[in-house]
Amino acid sequence: GERTLAMIKPDGIVGNHTHFIKTTILASSFTILQEITLQLDRHTAQGFYAEHSSRTFFPDLIDFITSAPVLIMVLDKVSAVSDWRALIGPTDASKAKLTHPHSIRAMCGVNVQRNCVHGSDSTKSAAREISFFFNHTDSGGNVSEHDEL
Ligand code: GTP
Ligand code: MG
Repeated sequence: GERTLAMIKPDGIVGNHTHFIKTTILASSFTILQEITLQLDRHTAQGFYAEHSSRTFFPDLIDFITSAPVLIMVLDKVSAVSDWRALIGPTDASKAKLTHPHSIRAMCGVNVQRNCVHGSDSTKSAAREISFFFNHTDSGGNVSEHDEL
């Protein structure tokens, strides 16, 4: 199959949505190949979201994503990248509640920032993000360098 990176964000962990989200993942025929719970530090969060570093919401995003632990998973399925994006729904959870009411973000998220889950947006992004957390690279974070819970 294909691999993608999924993350349950701090609002999903604190809001106790982990069990529902993992059940939904498995019911949707994904295999969870790897998973780890991490408390991201600011440096790691900034590296993960580097593409957004010039955006006005970037400081708020870093505050949010470092506010509590996250659960990071490598998912495997045919068309894993697009299937996971479809399952999580639009970025803005408040809009998702209207347009994609059965999506994970509609059911578990709150707004454009507190949207409960992350999904790689392309196979290229998926490769970068999986390496960032699960293989050692010079540029990225590595689980051995972070605070595994
Ligand atoms: P990810 O799967 O988390 O990458 O979300 P996405 O691909 O649907 O959205 P994008 O990559 O554009 O944005 C990354 C994250 O930044 C979003 O998931 C939100 O948590 C946050 N974000 C995006 N746009 C906004 C915004 O306009 N305001 C705020 N406060 N946060 C935003
Ligand atoms: Mg994105």
